Amino acid sequence: MATETQHAINTMLLEERRYPPSDDFARQANAKADIYDRDWQELWETEGRERVTWFEPFSTVCEWEPPYAKWYVGGKLNVCFNCVDRHVDAGLGDKVAYHWEGEPEGDRRDLTYADLQREVTRFANVLKEVGVRKGTPVAIYMGMVPELPIAMLACTRLGAPHTVIFGGFSADSLSGRMNDMECEVLITQDEAWRRGTTVALKRTADEAMDAAPGVKRCLVVRRTGNDAPMREGRDAWYHDLAANASDDPQTCPCEPMDAEDLLFLMYTSGTTAKPKGIVHTTAGYLVGTSSTHRYIFDIKPESIYWCAADIGWITGHSYIVYGPLCNATTSVLYEGTPDFPDKDRWWSIIERYKVDILYTAPTAIRSHMKWGPEYAQKHDLSSLRLLGSVGEPINPEAWIWYREHIGGDRTPIVDTWWQTETGMILITPLPGVTTTKPGSATKPFPGVLAAVYDEQGQDVGPGGGGYLVLKRPWPAMLRGIYKDDERYRSTYWSKYDDVYFAGDGARIDEDGDFWLLGRVDDVMNVSGHRISTIEVESALVDHHDVAEAAVCSRKDATTGEAIVAYVTLKGGNEGSVEKLDELRNHVGKKIGPIAKPANIVFTPELPKTRSGKIMRRLLRDVAENRTLGDTTTLADPTVVDEIKERATSEKTED
Ligand code: WTA
Repeated sequence: MATETQHAINTMLLEERRYPPSDDFARQANAKADIYDRDWQELWETEGRERVTWFEPFSTVCEWEPPYAKWYVGGKLNVCFNCVDRHVDAGLGDKVAYHWEGEPEGDRRDLTYADLQREVTRFANVLKEVGVRKGTPVAIYMGMVPELPIAMLACTRLGAPHTVIFGGFSADSLSGRMNDMECEVLITQDEAWRRGTTVALKRTADEAMDAAPGVKRCLVVRRTGNDAPMREGRDAWYHDLAANASDDPQTCPCEPMDAEDLLFLMYTSGTTAKPKGIVHTTAGYLVGTSSTHRYIFDIKPESIYWCAADIGWITGHSYIVYGPLCNATTSVLYEGTPDFPDKDRWWSIIERYKVDILYTAPTAIRSHMKWGPEYAQKHDLSSLRLLGSVGEPINPEAWIWYREHIGGDRTPIVDTWWQTETGMILITPLPGVTTTKPGSATKPFPGVLAAVYDEQGQDVGPGGGGYLVLKRPWPAMLRGIYKDDERYRSTYWSKYDDVYFAGDGARIDEDGDFWLLGRVDDVMNVSGHRISTIEVESALVDHHDVAEAAVCSRKDATTGEAIVAYVTLKGGNEGSVEKLDELRNHVGKKIGPIAKPANIVFTPELPKTRSGKIMRRLLRDVAENRTLGDTTTLADPTVVDEIKERATSEKTED
């Protein structure tokens, strides 16, 4: 870590390029410089009134009893009403909510706000039919089809909390989450399209439901039209039930919810094998996501906004579904991968819909860099006005490439730092105000108080590096870890008193700009997705041939970090190429393809300290091919040489 941080700081000090906002952009921007002068309580009170329509007004903006906050106390509202119904009431029924583009070419569907209201009502009526009521936990396991946001909104209409599980997750991941939340209903689809082939979601869902007996009903949306196994009494095709369900909003009014009622859980990796159910509630989440969306992306009534993430992650929840719909935005929703049928798919979408705001992740930008700028050059991207980045630190080369080749050397870039736990963007430029620097997320959003602490809890001050902390609550902050108060306290609130510990390293420069330096715990960031080392280790050890496993990450030009596993087989067995494939597939099955190690090194022994702790730092050094750090705490120092030798001879890549 020490050498890594040093290196990161050195590189960044050399980064002297500056990009002030153009006068034209600044003049028309939603956020002006004076927004930073506002008192945080006043700001959030005003935003609370302006972004959201209340059934009953709130009485207190924020109640803070560390480590739990309540926002907009006493307020009653409904998220679906705010995202859909009130826009139709206001005469925006004909405005497009989503331009949906399926992966198979020509597969398109525009949904207006009036369409969305009808579809959501129909879906909610079907949910009622299968027993969903206010408070019934619902799991959603789908690809990027219009029915995914429709299903989420239908849940919120009824006041049923949801958990969306990314369609790339395995049956085990799905059942684990459904059991933790005690889900009674699962919504899925027959199959999903992915790079021209199909992924059998319903089949995986069946396997998951075998291990999650609390799930009593399963709704299956038809997407590819291929056969899917259906179990009598439990499973139903959505279209069968929808045929008899009313789409008249009067038949299914929006349930008034308390400001602090559970809206959804989003599971995320931590440093133990069990994913954490991050709790997000109703009002603060909606105000936080809609305000940040409006100011940071400079959303205008005529904007065509595209967040190219998956709804199965927090970015999709906050910035494809809830924030944008609350602001009555027109969004693009794309089902497939960026390289299908060819590597210019994204750029053709931007050209077709005249997208003016694009929000994506550094890992995607690096893929496009690798493919070359000629794919973007084939299309007219002049509609773009603003670019965004999220998920991991963006390296300055990628930032510059993004601006030059996608943004025509004209558009501001907002590098936005936040987490599943924060619910909303917290550190970011404001595009009409901030002078940006490639690689820096710049400043805390207005009202947000962030700092960088040293080990003792002192502000490091300009030029210093340390741990990123948040010193004041914010509306969309997590309200806990589901059913695990102790883990909530120990993960986020125990390192420093009453201050939120984000688990990221950071540095503040002389101008007060923040530079994020990556995770400081054992959580890896692969293509912007958080995966814990321990989860992958557990999946490996779960294989009957594996005695022990240690996992770390190495840098990777495309995915940011790539997973490297060191595995000791039982009975002193040697590894083989077949075994390697078997283990990778095993991890894919246990967690999901995204967690498959890029490299597996078979080794007779793992490097451990005398207390038996695996020395990940050392493994990382080996994985990065660096000169080894201090090995004197090792129980058996010769192990390292052996591992090193094997690491070079057995490297495999996907
Ligand atoms: C990392 C995604 C640097 C960080 C919204 C954080 C970033 C983790 C940035 C959260 C950024 C996210 N610059 N690092 N702009 N954005 N991260 O929960 O390590 O999937 O803690 O939320 O991603 O990942 P999560």
